[in-house]
Amino acid sequence: MKADILKLLLQSHASGDEASFRKAALQLAASESSAGHLRVADEIREIVARMPPTGGQRPRAVIDIAAPRGELADILEGGHRDERLRDIILSGGVRDLLLRVISENRSRDRLERFGVSPRRRLLFHGAPGCGKTLAAAVLAGEMGLPLMTVRFDALFSRFLGATAVQLRAIFAEMPRRPGVYLFDEFDSVAKARGDAQDVGEMNRVVTAFLQLIDADVSGSILVAATNHVELLDRAVFRRFDAIVPFEKPNRAQLAELLLLRVGNLGLTEDQAVELATEAEGWSFADAARACDDAIRTMALADRVAITQGDIVDALEDLKKRELPARK
Ligand SMILES: Nc1ncnc2c1ncn2[C@@H]1O[C@H](COP(=O)(O)OP(=O)(O)OP(=O)(O)O)[C@@H](O)[C@H]1O
Ligand SMILES: [Mg+2]
Repeated sequence: MKADILKLLLQSHASGDEASFRKAALQLAASESSAGHLRVADEIREIVARMPPTGGQRPRAVIDIAAPRGELADILEGGHRDERLRDIILSGGVRDLLLRVISENRSRDRLERFGVSPRRRLLFHGAPGCGKTLAAAVLAGEMGLPLMTVRFDALFSRFLGATAVQLRAIFAEMPRRPGVYLFDEFDSVAKARGDAQDVGEMNRVVTAFLQLIDADVSGSILVAATNHVELLDRAVFRRFDAIVPFEKPNRAQLAELLLLRVGNLGLTEDQAVELATEAEGWSFADAARACDDAIRTMALADRVAITQGDIVDALEDLKKRELPARK
């Protein structure tokens, strides 16, 4: 794979195609990242960033190389991510697991010397708004890889036969473009197994998906996320190296979220703990929404510090609007 990138580098240099040269250099950086050579990757990215802009064109942003083109463009969305572990609240066990997965992937060479590979097929499950998608972005951000999200809705709007072909195209992309591949709403594949009109055809899609997971040796990280883990059968579970639960936040975690979101605007720890009681039973996403509403109120009032009242009002307001995710 690296040989392909090196060839592309040389070809684009030989033909004076600066844009392709830049793109290939960034692909090389991504490939080094995924091999665990983070420092080399950073150094390559710095060199690219220092390259002068050419032909009146602005230098391509890093996100450009991650953005899929052609036939994959409408089923695969991608980009580099800024999210880091400090941006997500996780229970101890899940944090430890993600940290471990990150370090295993950073030390891939060392593991492979002993005949084992890093765990890289993860199944995230849990209630809506509890951090599954965010955690995939954090993995990508921490590892310096683009997050490539597979849009299952787009995948399924076509003929089933075409769906299997598209899935294959995505898996073919994985070794070429190292990244964190997020199969979001993954259950739409598994769920469809029983209730599709043409069950035989759908089974072929699911079987193709499972076979593709088995056959994938790309080194890319594969994350499948679902709200309905109970719908998945054993054949699906077996394919994953780790099953990761995302649970609804407890009171302490809600307080932590409030501090993360508005601690820099003057909310104190005591206030956060008190407010968290009001939001008990909410998801992280609901509480984050209340924080954003409170910030809006603060900004409109031309203040630069948030009051406990701003947040109480926002919570009350959201409660009135009957957030579905609330108990
Ligand atoms: N664990 C968390 N820590 C901090 N913020 C969180 C957490 N979970 C969710 N959020 C906030 O809520 C938003 C939505 O969460 P996210 O999209 O990750 O939920 P999800 O579990 O993927 O939900 P769904 O099942 O609906 O896809 C995040 O962008 C973030 O602002
Ligand atoms: Mg999600």
